[in-house]
Amino acid sequence: MSLDVVILAAGQGTRMKSALPKVLHPLGGKPMVLYSVEAAVTVSQKAPVLIVGHGSDEVRNVVGDSARFAGQEDQLGTGHAVAQARSLLVGQGEHVIVIYADMPLLKAETLETLYEAQKENSGPISLLTFETDQPRGFGRILRGYQGNVQAIVEEAQCTPEQLEIREVNTGIYCFDAGWLWDHLDQIPLNAKGEYYLTDLVCIAVAEGAAVNALAADDPDEVLGINTRVHLAEAEAALRRRINTEWMLNGVTIIDPASTYIQPSVTIGCDTVIWPNTILVGQTTIGEGSRIGPNSYIEGCTIGSRCKVLAAVLEFAVLEDDAQIGPFGHLRKGAYLEEGVRMGNFGEVKNSRLRKGVKMGHFSYIGDGDIGEGTNIGAGTITCNYDGKQKYKTVIGKGVFIGSDTMLVAPVTLGDGASTGAGSVVTSDVPPDTLVYGVPARPRKSKQEKKEE
Ligand code: UD1
Ligand code: CA
Repeated sequence: MSLDVVILAAGQGTRMKSALPKVLHPLGGKPMVLYSVEAAVTVSQKAPVLIVGHGSDEVRNVVGDSARFAGQEDQLGTGHAVAQARSLLVGQGEHVIVIYADMPLLKAETLETLYEAQKENSGPISLLTFETDQPRGFGRILRGYQGNVQAIVEEAQCTPEQLEIREVNTGIYCFDAGWLWDHLDQIPLNAKGEYYLTDLVCIAVAEGAAVNALAADDPDEVLGINTRVHLAEAEAALRRRINTEWMLNGVTIIDPASTYIQPSVTIGCDTVIWPNTILVGQTTIGEGSRIGPNSYIEGCTIGSRCKVLAAVLEFAVLEDDAQIGPFGHLRKGAYLEEGVRMGNFGEVKNSRLRKGVKMGHFSYIGDGDIGEGTNIGAGTITCNYDGKQKYKTVIGKGVFIGSDTMLVAPVTLGDGASTGAGSVVTSDVPPDTLVYGVPARPRKSKQEKKEE
């Protein structure tokens, strides 16, 4: 492969006003820099060279093996930054794409188009431009009488007439590699004490070479992030992009403006997402499920035909046809098998509710294993913690737990057992036995009562 990608990420990102390096700020739950790294890998099929400076240790840790790194000690401008990749790349690929890590929504297809354009170009540079009514800080593209690109002028250096120019520089370029490495040293030091990569355009033009400019068609793609206001704009754009894709893939989203789906989530067709729903992390949802309104789901596996209404689900599993809500909370390790129904105000942590368990009203199950078809009465609590350690509650099949039962763990209830309302169960209950009272004792048979 003869394409290399250089990603500039050494700047401090002062305008973010943050202790975290700008390129590590999350977008859709993922550090911004990883978007450019992924796009680069897609187009070049190899690890890009990431230029790091401010917060370089943190950035290296997050990116890991997906990139090669070159350090830029002092941030002397974008031209100086690219020069740091020279020793790694000189004599390597025939082309070099340069992108900035603060433009995370750029698509690999756009880089591909730019690369193809540069392969056809007789001159050394193809760059991506974009027409806008709000150039907010972008460099302006100067064109000559015949429309040829002549130079890029940074906003701060623009004359009043130049400020009117609507065509701006996105900061995305594809260079002829040999020409780039030969000419970087010719960039002059400017009045600000920096070497601007954009000055290569003038240098090429002075040599009589043509500079090729391609227009980006989607403004979201070239949204550069310098402040947290821009970050929120990018988040909104990413949300639109992701939601549109799911809708085109057969998912109904009632109100895309209030639906937040991270890029790591997958959703099956005919699932309906109601407003104010947030799907994050490694979450997968099957087909024909109904999710929301007002639900937060993180790191969960949800089957088909499930219903989640106004619930918070974290690192839990729902098999097909399971239901929760309104107002339920599943915590780490909650596993609801097929057809389980949880009603309002239930909490389950690190427990398995086997097929068809019903838990209708305000109960807490922690560290439990609840057998098939068991009914958990209102207000049931597994007392799983004695202040020092956690203990298990094991309940068999077809058990009936009466309202307001306290199950003091460790405790086991056999198949077909039942508890009376208000029982405090402190010892194991044999199969098919009813216990009641505080502490709970088996009900005596008429015979036993007579004998007393
Ligand atoms: C740059 C372009 C401008 C373009 C804009 C698009 C230059 C001189 N100007 O301006 O024409 O419209 O991007 O967003 O190139 N960086 C380094 N080392 C440095 C300086 C910068 O790694 O010494 C990195 C930054 O971390 C950032 C990127 O390069 O990711 C761009 O730097 P920034 O200062 O944001 O440039 P702009 O002023 O936005
Ligand atoms: Ca920028």
